[in-house]
Amino acid sequence: MASLAGAVRRSRRFLDRVRNRLLPVNQTDLKATNIRFVDALKGQMPHDKAMELAIGGGFELIGPIEVALLRHYGLPEDGYLVDVGCGSGRLAKPLSAWLRGRYLGIDLVPALVAHARKIAARPDWRFEVIQHIGIPERDDQADMVCFFSVLTHLTHEQSYWYLEEARRVLKPGGRIVFSFLELREPVHLKIFLDTVAAMKRKVAMPMNTCIDRETIGHWAGALGMEVVEIRDGADTIVAEGSLGQSTCVLRKPL
Ligand SMILES: C[S@@+](CC[C@H](N)C(=O)[O-])C[C@H]1O[C@@H](n2cnc3c(N)ncnc32)[C@H](O)[C@@H]1O
Repeated sequence: MASLAGAVRRSRRFLDRVRNRLLPVNQTDLKATNIRFVDALKGQMPHDKAMELAIGGGFELIGPIEVALLRHYGLPEDGYLVDVGCGSGRLAKPLSAWLRGRYLGIDLVPALVAHARKIAARPDWRFEVIQHIGIPERDDQADMVCFFSVLTHLTHEQSYWYLEEARRVLKPGGRIVFSFLELREPVHLKIFLDTVAAMKRKVAMPMNTCIDRETIGHWAGALGMEVVEIRDGADTIVAEGSLGQSTCVLRKPL
């Protein structure tokens, strides 16, 4: 576990160096920003390695934790999961061994979606490339919608827009699980301060957004959803380990 955590830290340092070589981009153009970052990685290393690092690395450590969290928060084995910002399949791959039900993975970056589709090896699952924000699904379909390390890179307005979309596609009683950064956690505060320092140096960084619990409460109220649970990033909620980011679970009323 310790060496895996070290590997994740080394991945993060490497990713920061790649990001620092990117020209500043308009961070409201989500698609261009994300494609450009993945392309920069692809130019520097073998394809599969780039696909893993593009979403932060830690495939063997983080993916199983994400699966365990979804199970812990009530995803049924025969249920329907929508995975927003599915990336290159860090969640989809380990999930494919357990989830018998439906899955929709969406992301902005075609290369990541193609990789996720390949490694999940589930012809019955849907993987879709999207253009900006939105879930290509009808109302009241899914048991759970997850956002792992996705709202961390969006503005509050974009995050709320996505939560509205998630609420729309959820069945009554369905749940949203999202991870987030918050200033009350020292590790997250450091990410915030590093982002400020990078901005001052005019270095292109991914947007790192913090959300506080009061804001989540206001969002839940406006969405007409119940806050089921909010947990610190350092909490060990599942035996597989802690995610590092905080976790929030919202429930759509019956
Ligand atoms: C840090 S990665 C996390 C990937 C995955 N959720 C995981 O935990 O392995 C963030 C992902 O969100 C995607 N993303 C960013 N903005 C998005 C948006 N507006 N809609 C869908 N995906 C988005 C990025 O392309 C990237 O794959």
